[in-house]
Amino acid sequence: MSSSTISMLLMLLVASLAACDAALTVGFYNDTCPSAEQLVLQAVTDAFANNSGIAPGLIRMHFHDCFVRGCDGSVLIDSTANNTAEKDSPANFPSLRGFEVIDAAKAAVEAQCPQTVSCADILAFAARDSAVLSGNISYDVPSGRRDGLISNATEATDNLPRFNFTATQLVDNFSAKNLTAEDMVTLSGAHSIGVSHCSSFGNRLYNASNTTGIDPTISSAYGQLLRLRCPFNVSANDSRTASLDIITPDVLDNRYYVGLTLNLGLLTSDHALTTNDTLATMVNDNVNNGTAWAVKFAEAMVKMGNIEVKEGTEGEIRTNCRVINSASSDSVIETLLGYDHASS
Ligand code: HEM
Ligand SMILES: *[C@@H]1O[C@H](CO)[C@@H](O)[C@H](O)[C@H]1NC(C)=O
Ligand SMILES: *[C@@H]1O[C@H](CO)[C@@H](O)[C@H](O)[C@H]1NC(C)=O
Ligand SMILES: *[C@@H]1O[C@H](CO)[C@@H](O)[C@H](O)[C@H]1NC(C)=O
Ligand SMILES: *[C@@H]1O[C@H](CO)[C@@H](O)[C@H](O)[C@H]1NC(C)=O
Ligand SMILES: *[C@@H]1O[C@H](CO)[C@@H](O)[C@H](O)[C@H]1NC(C)=O
Ligand SMILES: *[C@@H]1O[C@H](CO)[C@@H](O)[C@H](O)[C@H]1NC(C)=O
Ligand SMILES: *[C@@H]1O[C@H](CO)[C@@H](O)[C@H](O)[C@H]1NC(C)=O
Ligand SMILES: *[C@@H]1O[C@H](CO)[C@@H](O)[C@H](O)[C@H]1NC(C)=O
Ligand SMILES: *[C@@H]1O[C@H](CO)[C@@H](O)[C@H](O)[C@H]1NC(C)=O
Ligand SMILES: *[C@@H]1O[C@H](CO)[C@@H](O)[C@H](O)[C@H]1NC(C)=O
Ligand SMILES: *[C@@H]1O[C@H](CO)[C@@H](O)[C@H](O)[C@H]1NC(C)=O
Ligand SMILES: *[C@@H]1O[C@H](CO)[C@@H](O)[C@H](O)[C@H]1NC(C)=O
Repeated sequence: MSSSTISMLLMLLVASLAACDAALTVGFYNDTCPSAEQLVLQAVTDAFANNSGIAPGLIRMHFHDCFVRGCDGSVLIDSTANNTAEKDSPANFPSLRGFEVIDAAKAAVEAQCPQTVSCADILAFAARDSAVLSGNISYDVPSGRRDGLISNATEATDNLPRFNFTATQLVDNFSAKNLTAEDMVTLSGAHSIGVSHCSSFGNRLYNASNTTGIDPTISSAYGQLLRLRCPFNVSANDSRTASLDIITPDVLDNRYYVGLTLNLGLLTSDHALTTNDTLATMVNDNVNNGTAWAVKFAEAMVKMGNIEVKEGTEGEIRTNCRVINSASSDSVIETLLGYDHASS
């Protein structure tokens, strides 16, 4: 074998390794759909003008997408007769909100560039736009994600952290996604906006065995106030809510951490960040420098947005964010032929 053949083989090897290791890129749609990010921003801005709760809704939706089968838009899929999808796990239903905003953004993008921009990328852009609108926190979103073909409710329940988790359980769930304890504390700052339903913090207001005990680790005055809003043993679909950050409930900022140090964290899992010395030091750092937290938050959102992404020819570009393409084209064919291929 000549040395030029060897060096050519080496070059091919390097090229194929690089292809395997493809990464998301900022401006992935520059050539194929230059207005994509602008169209998503417009849809999110319109929805936010009507209801500012859309911002926390979309930031949480991106998180819940990324923690289950990676950031692949699986959280957007609707359940079918055969499949209970992620969005119908108790971890997401009925509290996850903003699906109609993703639909509107997708419709606008499809009108300009059909079957080009993934639902997973639209959600990642929308979460960033939400951070801009609620906190003037902006960052470039690397894109090129492909949409997944599977959405399973049980996987959402198993992978998403719960409201009553301990510090160790929280760190473990993030580490299962290759996120550090510091990433976990930084990203928890998203609880600086948005709300929780009574069912997610009622455990702190009433002792499970009797209705008199308020959790001693929440400010008792705050606990009394919250009781006025939430009766004992409220059902999961009760619509009553409280703000996650009582200090600046609608601004994405570091006040959430200030609240934690005053026992004003709403969820057991929020308070948990103060129960471990290492995590508590990070909380205090965020109290002391909101600018530094905002920088870390932007970086951690990008890192979270990279979890197990599908690229290249993996998955698909969904036409309707709620439906797998193969499923919808199968049903179109079934309708046209008047026959059910699955039973044949
Ligand atoms: C650290 C572990 C976490 C736990 C245990 C947790 C748990 C929860 C719970 C129980 C709620 C309230 C749901 C309800 O009852 O309505 C909530 C809301 C929220 N979460 Fe988390 N979360 C965590 C981390 C995160 C992360 C990493 C993000 C995003 C980066 C995030 C963003 C949000 C937002 C924005 C809301 C408000 C949603 C709305 O207003 O619609 N959370 N979270
Ligand atoms: C897309 O354009 C932006 C702005 O000009 C640039 O920063 C980015 O690197 C470009 N990305 C690609 C993949 O072309
Ligand atoms: C505006 O927000 C409310 C909830 O606050 C919602 O019911 C309504 O559908 C929204 N309207 C539009 C046009 O998005
Ligand atoms: C938003 O942030 C940018 C840069 O980070 C800054 O120049 C601008 O003044 C901020 N806008 C507001 C309204 O605070
Ligand atoms: C959903 O995931 C669970 C847990 O991994 C698994 O046991 C179950 O078989 C899955 N369901 C479907 C329909 O694939
Ligand atoms: C998250 O933590 C809970 C509680 O420790 C655990 O049951 C679950 O398996 C964890 N999930 C992952 C994906 O690590
Ligand atoms: C959290 O609540 C569930 C029941 O909803 C319970 O099984 C679990 O033990 C609780 N976890 C902790 C750490 O208290
Ligand atoms: C975490 O990193 C390991 C080692 O690089 C990798 O094998 C694994 O797939 C990653 N897990 C996730 C959820 O990204
Ligand atoms: C709740 O009340 C029961 C019965 O009075 C008591 O045994 C238990 O320790 C209390 N739990 C908490 C968390 O206060
Ligand atoms: C109910 O629980 C609270 C807090 O745990 C406790 O102080 C109180 O004694 C309990 N009451 C009864 C009747 O068990
Ligand atoms: C606190 O959390 C850190 C980071 O996960 C961990 O290394 C440490 O062991 C924890 N400390 C205690 C006392 O649990
Ligand atoms: C806060 O953090 C920013 C960004 O990291 C840094 O430039 C600034 O010096 C810090 N301020 C203080 C008071 O430490
Ligand atoms: C879904 O379930 C229905 C009823 O059990 C069945 O007729 C249909 O073929 C299934 N479709 C798919 C795609 O598996």
